[in-house]
Amino acid sequence: MKNKLSLLSDYSLQGLNTFGIAARARTFLTITEREQLQALYQDKELACMPRLILGGGSNLLLPDQVDALVLHMQLKGRRIVGENEQYVFVQGQAGESWHDFVQWTLQQGIGGLENLSLIPGTVGAAPIQNVGAYGVEIQDVFHQLSAFDFETGEIVTLNKSDCCFAYRDSVFKHAYRDRLVILDVTFALPRQWQARCAYADVADYLTKHQIAAPQPADISAAIIAIRQAKLPDPAVIGNAGSFFKNPIVDAGKRESLLQQYPQLVSYLQADGQYKLAAGWLIDQCGWKGKHLGRAGVYEKQALVLVNLGGASGNDVRELASAIQRDVGLRFGVQLEAEPVFIAASR
Ligand code: EPU
Repeated sequence: MKNKLSLLSDYSLQGLNTFGIAARARTFLTITEREQLQALYQDKELACMPRLILGGGSNLLLPDQVDALVLHMQLKGRRIVGENEQYVFVQGQAGESWHDFVQWTLQQGIGGLENLSLIPGTVGAAPIQNVGAYGVEIQDVFHQLSAFDFETGEIVTLNKSDCCFAYRDSVFKHAYRDRLVILDVTFALPRQWQARCAYADVADYLTKHQIAAPQPADISAAIIAIRQAKLPDPAVIGNAGSFFKNPIVDAGKRESLLQQYPQLVSYLQADGQYKLAAGWLIDQCGWKGKHLGRAGVYEKQALVLVNLGGASGNDVRELASAIQRDVGLRFGVQLEAEPVFIAASR
């Protein structure tokens, strides 16, 4: 078994995180087979090393040195695993590119994931963050996942309620962080497909292209065009998508902010609270297009922090703290980071 574990030392992670931080891993292992995880679990020395599970590296902020065993998830495969009257069940292995997986489902004639087109990262990472865009979140289409449990050495199955999904959040960011390694994810996609195009950007695209009865591929094309226009391509400018969550405030707080700032952008939530557009708050503080050292705020979308070239994880943290401080002072609202901050020693 141990011969399956080709460990590498002092390995560069620069190409493996979308921020392009020049981090290095003390020990690095590419996981292409499930058996490797079992072999790791059985190896006394390796099993007790701190671990970092790396998918597409699109939702984390690395330090210069990662003093841990980095497991790069490269399990591949995707298939239709079943169907019933209501749903088609599709499954992707953790290491599949998320966008390629979405496109593959569309090529199979299965709609449901199109609003999540072009999100960077992998299938295995998508539930961790409960990724969402243009009115759809992973929790809306999730069926179940399987994961390797480093505490018991067993493979476990988790259903939707086990995952405790919330806005850009799940149990995998908390209790199961570094304990469970997601192996595959199964989605339940409805046979009775309905277009979700209520977002103004999507509706505008369809009108402009004179598409009255959009198909899943049309929605996917719209989302791809919108994202490409608004968000920087990580292959060109290092970034991790939205750096902050949109903060949620109660109706009273929103009302008092509206008195002072009539242009405030807010969205009513099902529970009566309001989600504020963090991009707008940051923009109002004058941060858009500004930088601190080698880390900057994207010129077209203030919610996205970028690596201007050669930024360290610490540069990005300092910029994030300065923005949080300014937004806090001006609006009395605390911004919470979306990416997971990785400590040097774990
Ligand atoms: N705005 C500004 N200035 C800015 C940026 C935004 O005034 O610099 C305003 C916009 O005019 C708009 C509002 O803020 O009125 C919201 O902006 P946008 O529609 O671009 O959406 P968002 O709130 O910035 C969220 C998600 C995105 C997702 C889009 C579409 C979060 C943290 N972000 O962005 O998700 O793609 O909605 O659903 O929830 C991600 O999580 O990485 C991500 C890209």
